[in-house]
Amino acid sequence: MQFYIMTLFPDMVMEGLNTSIIGRAVNNGLLGIEAWNIRDFAFNKHNSVDDYPYGGGAGMLMQAEPVYQCYRALEEQIIQKKKKKKSGGAVKKPRVIYLSPQGRTFNQEMAEEFAKEDDLVFLCGHYEGIDERVLEEIVTDYVSIGDYVLTGGELPAMIMVDCISRLVPGVLHNDVSAEFESFQDHLLEYPQYSRPEIWHEKQVPSVLLSGHHANIEKWRREQSIIRTAKNRPDLLEKAELSEKEQELARKSLQTEG
Ligand code: ADE
Repeated sequence: MQFYIMTLFPDMVMEGLNTSIIGRAVNNGLLGIEAWNIRDFAFNKHNSVDDYPYGGGAGMLMQAEPVYQCYRALEEQIIQKKKKKKSGGAVKKPRVIYLSPQGRTFNQEMAEEFAKEDDLVFLCGHYEGIDERVLEEIVTDYVSIGDYVLTGGELPAMIMVDCISRLVPGVLHNDVSAEFESFQDHLLEYPQYSRPEIWHEKQVPSVLLSGHHANIEKWRREQSIIRTAKNRPDLLEKAELSEKEQELARKSLQTEG
């Protein structure tokens, strides 16, 4: 999977993503991450890429042309790379994700959909945004990471790259951990414990020490349901629960704490 991030702050993105699990996956060749500096495509001698908005208003806007030229150069590279790999046939344009509070809110389902792509392009806005005309020409998906406003699209892009990357086979090493966790089955993850058995006078739940796998699975599922009911009851609507489990969810919703 190849990620391309169009940004005014390439170092921020690369430093953030070249560590830990994602960094290891890049080193292993499972992922490729390139940050493209939009400023390299500035068309004036001051290297500026922003200007005042028509009609007035606070702040500056990123201009259309540097963004467009950056995208065209990037698109050309992707097309050439793909042509080398497969002989003949049309090459599909990559999806271009613009990070904006006005987009669709990112979630696990969207991550799974994006993880099917070979290439993903992220466009990070700054200042008060980007000239609408270039967005109309190149953007395929508008995505927000939540109902709050950040200073730029870099952190949202990094969050999306992290989330999508861990769904790429091999990135997590142990593939089951991508399966059984929060939001799978629309339930939150159950609590987990490691050594020591007693810490700050708190005992690890005895069922986890029993070695009885069926009981452990049952306990974990119940804990997931209780947690979801308490913390994210909105998720329960989509969860598939048996009659008994629905009763457990109802009880958990009613109890405080
Ligand atoms: N840019 C600024 N705020 C954002 C948000 N919440 N999501 C995505 N991009 C953004």
